[in-house]
This record gives sequence, structure tokens and C-alpha cells, in this order.
Amino acid sequence: MPVPPRPLLLCGCVLGLTTLAQMLRATSRCPLVLPAHSAPSRAPPSPPCEDTPLDGHEGCLQQALWGKCREAFLADRCNKSCGRCHSPARADALRRVLLLSARQPSACASADGDAWVMRALQNKADFARWHGMAIAWTSAQVDAQYDGAWNKLALLVRHMNRSLELRRKRPFLKGGRRDLTRVEWLLWMDWDVVVTDLSFTLPLEEYDAAGLHLVVGGEPKGVFDEADYLKLNTGVMLLRVHSWTLALLRRMLAIGRKAARRRHALDAQKVVKNLCVGCIDDQAALLMLLHHEPTRWRGATSLERRFMLQGYWEDFNGALPLSVTSRPPAVSTTRHGDEATVVFTPLRLADVPMLPPLRRAVFGHLNVPFAIHFAGCQLCSGKADVERTIQCWHSFRRTLRFAEDQSLLAIGLQHALPNRSEVYDMPLQPIASD
Ligand SMILES: *[C@@H]1O[C@H](CO)[C@@H](O)[C@H](O)[C@H]1NC(C)=O
Ligand SMILES: *[C@@H]1O[C@H](CO)[C@@H](O)[C@H](O)[C@H]1NC(C)=O
Ligand SMILES: *[C@@H]1O[C@H](CO)[C@@H](O)[C@H](O)[C@H]1NC(C)=O
Repeated sequence: MPVPPRPLLLCGCVLGLTTLAQMLRATSRCPLVLPAHSAPSRAPPSPPCEDTPLDGHEGCLQQALWGKCREAFLADRCNKSCGRCHSPARADALRRVLLLSARQPSACASADGDAWVMRALQNKADFARWHGMAIAWTSAQVDAQYDGAWNKLALLVRHMNRSLELRRKRPFLKGGRRDLTRVEWLLWMDWDVVVTDLSFTLPLEEYDAAGLHLVVGGEPKGVFDEADYLKLNTGVMLLRVHSWTLALLRRMLAIGRKAARRRHALDAQKVVKNLCVGCIDDQAALLMLLHHEPTRWRGATSLERRFMLQGYWEDFNGALPLSVTSRPPAVSTTRHGDEATVVFTPLRLADVPMLPPLRRAVFGHLNVPFAIHFAGCQLCSGKADVERTIQCWHSFRRTLRFAEDQSLLAIGLQHALPNRSEVYDMPLQPIASD
């Protein structure tokens, strides 16, 4: 797949421009802009889950970062910061997700590339297991017509079709009881997306209530007004199992059919900003459809900006905490120019320790993002230039080890610290208790 020099967006760029007040409002109450045709709410609304700090004590966030959540005086307080916002609707929705990914059919350019691709898929399996999601990935080329990055859409079309067929055969209610095996959402992740906060819970019940069918990271003005290739990223996509989504995927896929691709690439040049000449991929295809047929596709599409569905690796290079157990510093709101630095705690799995904050603020935030995308790195194909490739690998290995440490925590192990960026792992070491 051809990639322009700096192939990214991100919602972070947008967050960076919003005021602190907007940011806090967005992250604490998570309002959704409902599309005009919004479906009636299906999931019962969860009761509000708030922090109520005790007088004379530090705030809830600080208490959580200090690891005090289990102490008696916080037992029924600081629920939000302590990850005690149990949302049965969300937990239920997460169990009806099928996470999908794929890698190229041929071996990577370097032998250890394949080992790291495997670890990136393992990272997705870890994430899926934490949330009770199903997972599937493939290295097969699904359809000879659709090579390279188009394989992703060909695969998604098949899974969407199958999920819809299964639903037809097995209705939602089985003998009056809900069928818990039913898949409601497909979660696509490019293989080079690393989930960096495994306990992050995607707000699916909110998307359900809003009648959304497609959720991607993007910036509304850049996507809807300008069709800017750099303001959308399809490396992570949430797709509702629905005939609407199957129709969208089929339309996107048709743009990549070998015989028609050249013609569509010319068309894309006229519409899509910042797209390299002759380039066309699923991201450009989605921008074209949103541009050409707004009434059909925009209403049920949400561009998520409250959190990063995928951060861009260069923005987070060197910013991840060194360890998932490192002692967090006291929380303070400091100013860097006009941006305030804050940590916010999304709804997280209960009883999972909070991650320490980033080592530096990224777009004004100190929280570890949900995921980081190594877009433009071409890690497996080895097609990026040498200097970039070195940087990418360094950052990719560190990021994966950081994510792996979250899963290792449960069995009391972590990667040794000194050589995190090295190619080979040090033997795992027990977590030091302090
Ligand atoms: C916090 O959660 C507990 C149950 O987990 C509940 O009993 C309590 O009322 C909640 N407190 C607040 C202030 O929401
Ligand atoms: C799924 O694909 C099969 C075979 O191509 C087709 O007959 C069927 O109508 C498709 N299902 C949906 C829901 O489009
Ligand atoms: C880390 O890697 C460097 C270079 O590969 C090596 O010299 C050093 O001994 C390693 N550190 C530890 C603690 O083993």
C-alpha cells in the first residue's frame, strides 16, 4: 500500500486545540453528538458514576494513582477514578465484539519481524481476553482481486456477511433468553496497532444508544468538509453488524477492484486532500464515500475524539511510562504554554491497577492512550527508509513490552527495565514490591 510521508491524523491533534474546559467536559461526561436519525436507546442508561472525594483528603485521581482505592476510607468513594463504574451494559456489549486483524501472507522482510508481528497479534489476543471478546486473524489473501491493504476490506465483508447470516439463523432471543454468542460489533485493528491500555473499555453501549454503525478516529471538519487523508484513520474501526455496514464495506471494496483501481485513484485525487498521487486505499475510499454520498453514510458514522482510538507512534515516541508499576508522581495541573496537563481516567475494568501517567504530555494529556498505531513504518514489509525504520522498531518494541507488562502483572512478572528498546528481551523478572 502506498503511504504518504506522514500518514496520519489524529484526534489528539484536535484535542490539543480544544480548551481545557472543553476537554474536561468531554472526558468526564463523554457527551455524544447524536446523529439526526438516532435510534431509540436500547441499553438502559447506567447510573452516573462520579468521584466524591472525602473532605480533607487529596482528590480521587491522586488517591487512585497512589493505589489507595482498596483502602476502607475510599470503599464507596472515588468510584470513577478507582475504576468502579461497573456498567453491565458496557461489559455485556464488549462480550459481543469480534476483534479482527490480519497480516501480510508472505514472510516479513526480516526474520525477527515475524516474531514481532506475532507479539502484536498476541497483544490483541490479550486485550480481547481481558474483555471477553472473540478474536480472529488471518494471513490469507481472501480474494485475488484485492491485494495488499484491500485484503482488510475483503475480509471484513466476509465476516460481516457471516455475522449477519448467523443472526438470521439464530435470532437474538433463544427460547426467551438472549443469545450470548451473538456478535454485534466487529472491531478491526491493523496488525501494527498496539493496544497500550488493556483495561480501557470502549463505550459501546453509548454507540448503541446513539444508533451508530461506524466509529473511527477522525476530525469532523477535516473529514467531512475537507476530505483530508490525514484527518481520518481506518487502522482501528468499530463496525456494527448491520446491513448498512455491509453495504458500506462493499462500496469501499469495489473502489479497490484491480480493474477499476486506477480510475478511482484519479477520482480520489480530485476529492481527497493530502493523498499521494496514484494512491488509493480503504481510508481514501471511505473519505470519497463520505464526500460523495453524505446523506447515506454520515449519519451513522461517528468520529471519536473523546479518546484516541489510535495515537500516532511519533507523537508518543518516548512518552510511555518506563514500567506499568512505576510510582506515579503527584498529580498537578501544570501549564505548558496554553495547554494544561491533566490525567483523566476513562472507564476501566474494575480491580485493574491504574497505569502511571505518560512521561510527558501529549496534546495536553498525560494518560496512556488506548492504542498506538505504527502507521507508515512498514515494519513487516520493510519498505520504509532506513532511518525511519530504526526509529519505528525502537518505539514499537518498547510499546509492545509496555503492553505485555500489563498482562504479565497478573502473574507477577515484568520485562527487565534496562534494555527495553533492545531487539531481544532480557529474561522476565519478578515485579519488585516496595
Ligand atoms: C460507589 O460504588 C458502590 C458500589 O460499587 C456504591 O455502593 C456506592 O454508592 C457508590 N458511591 C457513589 C458515591 O456513587
Ligand atoms: C452473504 O453472502 C452470500 C454468498 O455470497 C449471499 O448469498 C448472501 O445474500 C449474503 N448475505 C448478506 C446478508 O448479504
Ligand atoms: C543491555 O544491552 C546492552 C547492549 O546490548 C548490554 O551491553 C547490557 O549489558 C544490557 N544490560 C543488561 C542489564 O543486561
